[in-house]
Amino acid sequence: FHWHLTDDQGWRIEIKKYPLLTTVGGKRDSTQTGNWSSKVYDGKPHEGFYTQEQIKDIIRYAAARHITIIPEIEMPGHSSAAIAAYPWLGTRHEPIRVPVKFGVQYDVFNVSDPRVTTFLQDVLQEVIALFPSKVIHIGGDEVKYDQWKADAGVNAYMKAHHLASPADLQIAFTNNISNYLAGKGRRMAGWNEIMGSKLHDFTDAKDVSATEKLAPGTIVQFWKGELNLITDAVSKGYDVVNSYHSFTYLDYNYKSISLEKAYSFDPIPAGLDPKYHHKILGSGCQMWGEWIPDVKTMNHLVFPRIAAYAEDGWTLPANKNFERFEQALQFFYTRWDAEGIQYND
Ligand code: ACM
Repeated sequence: FHWHLTDDQGWRIEIKKYPLLTTVGGKRDSTQTGNWSSKVYDGKPHEGFYTQEQIKDIIRYAAARHITIIPEIEMPGHSSAAIAAYPWLGTRHEPIRVPVKFGVQYDVFNVSDPRVTTFLQDVLQEVIALFPSKVIHIGGDEVKYDQWKADAGVNAYMKAHHLASPADLQIAFTNNISNYLAGKGRRMAGWNEIMGSKLHDFTDAKDVSATEKLAPGTIVQFWKGELNLITDAVSKGYDVVNSYHSFTYLDYNYKSISLEKAYSFDPIPAGLDPKYHHKILGSGCQMWGEWIPDVKTMNHLVFPRIAAYAEDGWTLPANKNFERFEQALQFFYTRWDAEGIQYND
């Protein structure tokens, strides 16, 4: 269970050393509704977070079912809620509110400030103390570099550390974190942007990484990009979790990803040299909550596709058969009904 606990629009895990993360960062004034371009906001305050005691309960519940929980703490982007709580974490140098609009925000951690590194290590220390998982996920996706590029302190830091581009700065930062985690006996995972390639329209082609290398042992979770990116990762020795968005994002509707399309997903991408197949650890299927108004809507997107993703993960393609799968699903429909899970329209 990969648990995404922090983002721009809310910080959802209690950190005892930094209480404002949840008392300020866990609340927002309103929420955008509808879709990414919507101008409609519900005007209602929204708040919530998990206490460390609640998290321990969930970890115990999962462990009893042989499930390991991998926590994700986003850095250096998707960090507006934390910056709203502690403005000195940011690169804007003035207070912000927790965003009420979804999508990638501009505010990013000021990774050139040693206080920010200390903060992140303190947070990770509490996360490590809570979660027995060997793997800790640090996000790393969709970082907008505008604030770093505009900041004299960040530029001076890049010059002093011979970092040629903002992506190199992100990788150097990520490596520091990965070394910190390795020192605690943990292994870092991150979204595939941590490789430093251009994936987004908002990234300047000249701002991609030229020189930096990720720390060995890093797990790259692939969500965007082409086969060459996975090949690049595995040929450099990194292990990969394949979460390619257009096949595995559970927040996409059934028109985008039908049950049959979900079932057709092979975590080993077509065309990958067989000598690298063992580097694909598996896959993920992601339920992002932005446009989910209630549990029933969420369940409708999750069930039954989650059963297809489970089979994609553990069944060889030669042994897969969609008709057989659909028949076998009847067993699960009965079981989900008995559990009281509401997932139909
Ligand atoms: C992602 O969807 N930004 C990982």
